[in-house]
Amino acid sequence: MAQEIKKEVSLQIFKESELTPEIKQLLEKARYAAKNARAPYSDFQVGAALLLSDGSIVLGNNQENAAYPAGLCAERVAFFAAKANNPTASILKAVVVALKMKSSPNSIPAPCGNCRQVMSEYEHAQPENIELYLAGGEGDILMSKSIGNLLPFEFSSDQLV
Ligand code: THU
Repeated sequence: MAQEIKKEVSLQIFKESELTPEIKQLLEKARYAAKNARAPYSDFQVGAALLLSDGSIVLGNNQENAAYPAGLCAERVAFFAAKANNPTASILKAVVVALKMKSSPNSIPAPCGNCRQVMSEYEHAQPENIELYLAGGEGDILMSKSIGNLLPFEFSSDQLV
């Protein structure tokens, strides 16, 4: 009989009114970034706002290209910009907003696998966990205290030869 391995993940759901002023500010900035997204092909505008350990805020949004795979998601645009411009600061909080979602206005966006991998590696490379908030155009906000909750059994540099 095969042995079963289970790993628990923990996520929290907030109403916008329950968010701290700091997260509300990041949410507003992520919404602003989403409005400036370059998404002419999918019309799926995503924005991200990161709070770094030195207090600075870095924004990102999805950047699409006619050669589709050449484009990049909002999360990676923001994370790469943070690490390119401020390599020694930790990323403490990340708020991601998708302005409109097809399934329902209350849907919550889920980062793609590549973004989970990138965010996970940056989390492992710093002492602090990254608190991640995911918001749709309206409605509830999903929060994870660590990227690990979004990517259990992740690939990491520990496995490289
Ligand atoms: N996208 C993001 O920017 N973040 C996500 O979490 C999911 C998807 C972008 C990529 C592409 O520009 C568009 O949304 C549709 O997939």
